[in-house]
Amino acid sequence: MKISVIGTGYVGLVTGVCLSETGHEVTCLDIDEKKVQSMRNGISPIYEPGLDEMMKRNIEENRLFFTSSYEEGLADKEFVFIAVGTPQSKDGSADLQYLNNACRSIAESIQNDVIVITKSTVPVGTNEHVKRTIESHMSRDFSISVVSNPEFLREGSAIHDTFHGDRIVIGSEDEESLERVKKIYQSFELPILTTDLRSAEMIKYASNAFLATKISFINELGNLCERLGANIENVAKGMGMDQRIGSKFLNAGVGYGGSCFPKDTNALLSIGNSVEYNMSIIQSVIDTNEKQQRIIVDKIKQFIPDLTNKKVGVLGLAFKPNTDDMRDAPSIKVIRELVDSGADVYAYDPIAAENARIYLPGATVYRESIDETLQDMDFAVIMTDWKQIKEYPLDQFRTQLKNPVVFDGRNCFPLAEAASHGLQYHSIGRPSVGLDL
Ligand code: UDX
Repeated sequence: MKISVIGTGYVGLVTGVCLSETGHEVTCLDIDEKKVQSMRNGISPIYEPGLDEMMKRNIEENRLFFTSSYEEGLADKEFVFIAVGTPQSKDGSADLQYLNNACRSIAESIQNDVIVITKSTVPVGTNEHVKRTIESHMSRDFSISVVSNPEFLREGSAIHDTFHGDRIVIGSEDEESLERVKKIYQSFELPILTTDLRSAEMIKYASNAFLATKISFINELGNLCERLGANIENVAKGMGMDQRIGSKFLNAGVGYGGSCFPKDTNALLSIGNSVEYNMSIIQSVIDTNEKQQRIIVDKIKQFIPDLTNKKVGVLGLAFKPNTDDMRDAPSIKVIRELVDSGADVYAYDPIAAENARIYLPGATVYRESIDETLQDMDFAVIMTDWKQIKEYPLDQFRTQLKNPVVFDGRNCFPLAEAASHGLQYHSIGRPSVGLDL
């Protein structure tokens, strides 16, 4: 099938490359000419394990193309995916300017009937707006059908999620288009749910908001456990054994970040407001996460009230492991507060350090290894549960640090082990151990 994908951000590029991998002929379109040039040479602008190799293979086998021209990108294409960004506006709603631009450009350049498939996360009702916008800007009379096809891929495992996700959701009012879009995914062997257009749009927000709710819920409970001497890990285990609850997404920590949960929870709140419905649960989820992102600073100050000239080694900066994405990473708030409180921050991340420079205070010093980041520090803070951090020998925390004190925002180590290796170890939702040091 001949497919065009507009927008080569995270979602667009992964979708385009994966669809070409299954044998479709895919042209990815982006208005950024420099980006297009580098993608033609097989260089992905985003970090995603396995993507570069898959990209190169499909370019070589003539199934994957890149262009900055709408005429070229849309020529002979039956399917046009829209995967442009819908970032958060100042008022919390989704900003649809890139989507509107894409619709106008599609209208000006199409030469045949198309099915427009929206992958971007868009407020309920937007696909109808997409159809109206394209139709009102077309100079010739082509047939436009719209289909909502939200994505559920996670950064860091996007390729795996594309091929092995839990479901594919396709929504439209047009039965024939639904059937044709289903055929794109024929080789995927995943359950396909077909729905009406508005429900498909809602499923994306509902899923992300529910997952965010799970995280804020477990974090609130963790804060309560700390005050009551219980251990959130044991509590989560017991809860997760109930299949109605499920064991996933019950890890307490310094809160969620990234490009989706903060943006989509705010957008859902704003969608509610637009129809005068107050989504109070979602408001609480957002408020809890705001507090949780800086909870480790409260904990640090409780044990070390004066941070002036204290040397702090921060391990992990990205909002989660296996990504260089710093958007809404809890490390941003924490490092800003540490610096504002007079501390000297030395930071390490296996791959996000370059992006981090845009977000973190100028005073932050970047280190190349965990060893280097811990050497002679007054204490360490763990912000991302990278594998190399979780597997770092606990003995070495003690030998490298000036004081063997660790504040772990991701519960990387079992309490008994941390204590037996001579650390004073503070984590989230669990009792602090090794306090007598
Ligand atoms: C998310 C959704 O999972 C995906 O389906 C959607 O398409 C995009 O948004 P992503 O943002 O890549 O994906 O990250 P995810 O792995 O879901 O983690 C989000 C955040 O939640 C991270 O900051 C992570 O550290 C945090 N998290 C996750 C927790 O704090 N506890 C958990 O138990 C799980």
